[in-house]
This record gives sequence, structure tokens and C-alpha cells, in this order.
Amino acid sequence: MHEVIEELEKKRQAAALGGGQKRIDTQHSRGKLTARERIELLLDEGSFEEWDTFVEHRCTDFGMADKKVPGDGVVTGTGMLNGRLVFVFSQDFTVFGGSLSEAHAEKICKLMDQAMKVGAPVIGLNDSGGARIQEGVASLGGYAEVFQRNVLASGVIPQISVIMGPCAGGAVYSPAMTDFIFMVKDTSYMFVTGPEVVKTVTHETVTAEELGGAQTHSTLSGVCDRAYENDVETLLMVRRFVNYLPSNNREKAPHRPTPDPADRLEMSLDTLVPDNPAMPYDMKELIYKVADDYEFWELQPDHARNIVTGFVRMEGHTIGVVANQPDVLAGCLDIKSSIKAGRFVRFCDAFNIPILTFVDVPGFLPGTAQEHGGIIKHGAKLLFAYAEATVPKVTVITRKAYGGAYDVMSSKHLRGDVNLAWPSAEIAVMGPKGAVEIIFREDIGDADKIAGRTEEYRQKFANPFVAGSRGYIDDVIAPHSTRKRICRSLAVLRNKKLDNPWRKHDNIPL
Ligand code: HXC
Repeated sequence: MHEVIEELEKKRQAAALGGGQKRIDTQHSRGKLTARERIELLLDEGSFEEWDTFVEHRCTDFGMADKKVPGDGVVTGTGMLNGRLVFVFSQDFTVFGGSLSEAHAEKICKLMDQAMKVGAPVIGLNDSGGARIQEGVASLGGYAEVFQRNVLASGVIPQISVIMGPCAGGAVYSPAMTDFIFMVKDTSYMFVTGPEVVKTVTHETVTAEELGGAQTHSTLSGVCDRAYENDVETLLMVRRFVNYLPSNNREKAPHRPTPDPADRLEMSLDTLVPDNPAMPYDMKELIYKVADDYEFWELQPDHARNIVTGFVRMEGHTIGVVANQPDVLAGCLDIKSSIKAGRFVRFCDAFNIPILTFVDVPGFLPGTAQEHGGIIKHGAKLLFAYAEATVPKVTVITRKAYGGAYDVMSSKHLRGDVNLAWPSAEIAVMGPKGAVEIIFREDIGDADKIAGRTEEYRQKFANPFVAGSRGYIDDVIAPHSTRKRICRSLAVLRNKKLDNPWRKHDNIPL
């Protein structure tokens, strides 16, 4: 027995060494941790239980028969993250460049199947040269098996991808179908076709970093939700992030008690909205000031900055926040912001997370770029997402809520549960100036008349009371009492139950 145990220990040590010390050193010299070191950092100390340590590939072509490494380039298993069960896979770049073989894919699939059965999140640490070239179509099949599971798990268990090295070709589509993507700056990249192919086909010269680095995906494309400086910071942030999420779609997110009083008043909010309606202000100040402990976990902070999305806690409960940002493009909705917020609203709805919406929106961004880019369909995504959401929805209009964008932003008409407005709210088809220039076009040459008409329109519509008189607004509240009123509304809604009609699935405008 003693010898067998020794043998086992030897096998474990061989597996732990992955592709060998030399390749581990190379990995470190690039500022990257190994697959196992990453798991150690991600999970609660000593909680990782590895599966399939001894799995090997079955390829015999191209001299592969005698090139076998136990585990075959991916470390999989379960562990605890702040005391809650999670499933993790971590690709090992030191073994055949972390490339995905049939056996490697089977390990990931086994993990995902089990995570679905027990209802726990899957966190994938990606660092891979893509399909195992020696295995050909068996590897492609392996990818598709993972894709299929990504889709079936979507909306059932949270799926988080952390890109910590290469992720290229069709391999990007597994992370793309997960709920959140984190990237490490400078050492990770994602693209469907790499710089060489781009050069051949379009004659563009571009580096891997420019094409698909963390900076590109967290600003331009919006593929990435958060990017951090290095492996350590990224993994520690993922640890904190997971605390906001429930383990599956039948549970609520964990409750974190707070000493922050629900009825805390924030007098400074009374002067947040400038007197001049054309002046911007930072909506994030409002979010921070109403949240428990002034904490806000923002997603995609550098992409489509005209809308802000992320998580806060209110009385200890996770709440998804969507807010127009008057500081950027005057808070207009456009293609990117509609997609960003629409996807976030759907995540919240799928995982029982109430949605808090702050509105200051002058409308949709005009222009040929927007129209030709399909703002009609993309704007409809956000509208659709809000309208289908059945979780508690609380809305606060701080200033402008104009036109179709008023309807979109979790209005009463889209089953908003509690819709509040600040006294500075202006709920109308459009701003007073634009309205008067249309309905009193004959007076345009007469500045005095136009000024009078504008003031008249402002008096009539640029306030929350017309909407209030119809019940579209439940109450007009003092800005300083916003936290208190939101907490109370969310408490009232805690056991809300609402079902949509039966259907196979909806047909959201993609
Ligand atoms: C087998 C691979 C591999 C792969 C890398 N390796 N990629 N082995 N299949 N796909 C091996 C290398 O042979 C090398 O082995 C080790 O991993 C490290 O690779 P290096 O090239 O030395 O590392 P580096 O210079 O950092 O370059 C990393 C890389 C490069 C950019 C990822 O290896 C590369 O371009 N690989 C090929 C990428 C690719 O074309 N993959 C297929 C994409 S298509 P040794 O023994 O020397 O250490 C795809 C389709 C998915 O993935 C389809 C899904 C539907």
C-alpha cells in the first residue's frame, strides 16, 4: 500500500509540473502565473479539489503518442470562493500551449455538466493557443461540445471567463457566450482572426494588442467587462465580483449585512442637478451616494460611457444599476449603450437581481452612423430587455426623460414597479426649445415670441407633475431622500412574483 501511495504522489507531482520547469519559468518571465497558481489565488485557501488529474490525450499522429502530460493542458475541479461552491477550469499554457484536445474539452464538459446539476457558477481561466493542431477535427468537436454547454448553462448558472493569455479563432466564442469577461492587460488578447490573417486579407498592419488586447476590448468593442493590470489583481477582483452573484437562477444573491442605515439622507444630492438644464453632471455620484457603504461595482466603465451599468447593494441585497450618464454625450442612448445596458438587464432578470434605473436621457443619438448602424434594432434590445424583465424594477428620473427614451428607461408602461422623480425631472416628448421650434415654426424669426412659448412649454411639461397626475410617476421625492425611498421600495418588492406568458423563447431583436 505504501508503495502505491508513493506512486500516486509521484504522479501528482508530475502533473503539477505541467509542461516542465523550463516552460513554467517562461510563463513567469512573461509576468503570467501558472494554471495552478491562478486557481490557488482565486479560491479560498486549501479548498481546491482537482478532478481528472491523470487524463491524457489519445492522439497518436505527428509523434504525439509518446508526448503525454497528465491533465492534458487544463486543470479542472471544484472549490470554495468566499465560502460558496464554484467550478473552475484553468488552461495550462505550459502544456502544448494550453491547446484544446478532445480530452481537454471532455474535462471542461464534465465540469460544466456537474456545475449544472448542482447549480454553481463556472469560472474559466483561459490561456490557450486554440485547437490542438495535431488533433484536427476532434479538437473542433471538443470546442463545439463546450459551446453547446455554454448555451444550455446561460441563464441557469453564472459563467465567468477570465482571459489570461491567448484566446483566438473560434475559441473566443466560448467566453463570448459566458456572462462576464475579465481580461489581463498586456498579457491577454482575443480575436477571431490574428494580425497575420488581417494583414493578408485587408492589408492592415496591426499588433495583437491593438487588434484584441484588454484595452481594445474594454473601450472600443465592449467584449470585455473589466480589465486589470496583472494576474493577481484580476483574480482578486473576480473573487470580489462573484460575491454579487447568486449561485444559480433559482437562488438569490448572497445577503451582506451592512451598518449603513437604509434611511441615510444625502443632503448633497439636492444640488447634484445643475440649474442650467444643458449642464452635465456625473451620475455616478448619485449611484455611489445611494449605495450601501458608497460601494459600486461598475461593469464596462470605459465602453459606451453614456450609460453606466453595474452592481450595488441596498440593505445588503445585490441590485443591478443602469443609469444614463449626462457627462458623456449628454446621456443619449446610442447603439453601444443600448447593447451594453440591454445585456446587463437580461443578466439581472435571469438571476433574480432587482434593477434600479436612474434616468437623465435627452433621447437617442441622431446621425447617419447611428441609423445606418441599426439603432432601430439595437435600441429595441434595451426596450425589449426592460419590458420582458420580471424582477423588481425601481426607477428614479433625475432630470430629462424625453421621447422614446423615456419609455425605454424602465418606465411605468414597461411594468416599472416603483417610478420616482426628482423635482428637477422633465418628462416630455422633447426639450422645450426643440418642441417650440416645431409647433410654433411660424414664430421662429421672433426671438421674444419663441422665448415666451419656450417658457410656456417649460412650465407645462418640463416638470414631473404632468406624468405624476397620470400615475406614470408614483411620487416626486426630495433628492436627499433617494436612498431611503429606494430601500423602502425594494423592501416592498422583495417577494414580487410575475410571470411572462408561456413560449419556447422570445425573439429579441438581435
Ligand atoms: C498544438 C500548440 C498550439 C496548438 C501552441 N502550441 N499552440 N500545440 N496546438 N494550437 C505549442 C507550441 O508548439 C509550443 O510547444 C507551445 O505550445 C508554446 O507555443 P509557442 O508558439 O512557443 O508560444 P508563443 O510564442 O507564446 O506563441 C503562442 C501562440 C502560438 C501565439 C498561441 O503558439 C500560436 O500561434 N499557436 C497556434 C495558434 C493557432 O493557430 N491555433 C489554432 C487556432 S484555430 P513547445 O513544445 O515548443 O513548447 C482554433 C479553432 C478553434 O483555435 C475552433 C473552434 C470552433
